[in-house]
Amino acid sequence: MTTSAFADLNALRDAATRELDAAVDAAALEAWRVAYLGRSGKITGVLRGIAAVPADQRRVFGAAANEIKVALEQRFEARQADLERGALSALASDAIDITLPGRPVDMGRLHPTTIVIREICGIFQSMGFQVVEGPEVEWDKYNFEALNIPKDHPARDKWDTIWVDANKDVEGRFTTLLRTHNSPMQARVMETNQPPIRVVVPGKCFRYEATDATHESQFFQVEGLVVDEGVSFANLKHTLYEFARRLFGGDRKVRFRCDFFPFVEPGVDMSIDCFKCGGRDPACRICRGSGWIEIMGAGMVHPNVLRNVGYDPARVSGFAFGMGPERIAMLKYGIDDIRLFYANDIRFLRQF
Ligand code: DAH
Repeated sequence: MTTSAFADLNALRDAATRELDAAVDAAALEAWRVAYLGRSGKITGVLRGIAAVPADQRRVFGAAANEIKVALEQRFEARQADLERGALSALASDAIDITLPGRPVDMGRLHPTTIVIREICGIFQSMGFQVVEGPEVEWDKYNFEALNIPKDHPARDKWDTIWVDANKDVEGRFTTLLRTHNSPMQARVMETNQPPIRVVVPGKCFRYEATDATHESQFFQVEGLVVDEGVSFANLKHTLYEFARRLFGGDRKVRFRCDFFPFVEPGVDMSIDCFKCGGRDPACRICRGSGWIEIMGAGMVHPNVLRNVGYDPARVSGFAFGMGPERIAMLKYGIDDIRLFYANDIRFLRQF
């Protein structure tokens, strides 16, 4: 046996020790064990080779090799224990404390306008109406002409219009606009359907208008239309009366008064009796002491409107109505400024 065999043994021990100390996880540790102490590992190999060592040195060499093996085994176990402890404490610091209160989830909610639109449409749906929607960018033809409001007619002054400068007619007038009301859907629905018709139309409208507490340049309307043979003013009154009672309470009274809209004849506005003061408080913020609150316009569909879509007014008749859900939400919830609906103030929106 040469001294170099001992030197090799020491070098092997040093390398094994260095690599063991460098193992940072369970997988590296196991790889190390296999490489040195495993069945065909390097230390095992040395011990197996003892038989080849000259007899006179066998004991000394064997003892030295065995000592190194035992020392490495102990060091391995210590290293293993160290790593396990480290892994455990990492686990402990990552642990979730399930007794802590959760992070609050910010719940979304429906906009007050949406709530009221759904309520309105729900009531009409339960009476057999269909809900349909139409375009916000509309042709003059549907917004005005089909509704018995000719070009250049002064009746148009009632709807301050935002025109879209995309198309012009031969006389240079704009033909596209942002719809000023939802009534154009009357014409669109009749054009593509035959009576009986029962629809409500929720949707946005736009007016060229300065804003204040009761005026917005954008707002919603729910339009309604019924057309069939023999539809009468009594049907209009009954339907809208029933609607008002369902929306504002079973003891509501309603009042119809004459009003003018070019697309109906006769035209009316409908009011409900004041649910706040019943007309007893002269300073009431809702009815201002009058006892009545106006909630929509309505009327019997004008024969010209029926004719414009190819219907025969001698055979069919109908009624139409239109209301503003923001106004109804203001009444229901006591909101005093219509601009709040478009201000996106979370403190306002959270209340609904
Ligand atoms: N379109 C009307 C407006 O914006 C509201 C209206 C009134 C609609 C009477 C109707 C109606 O259908 O019959 O002022």
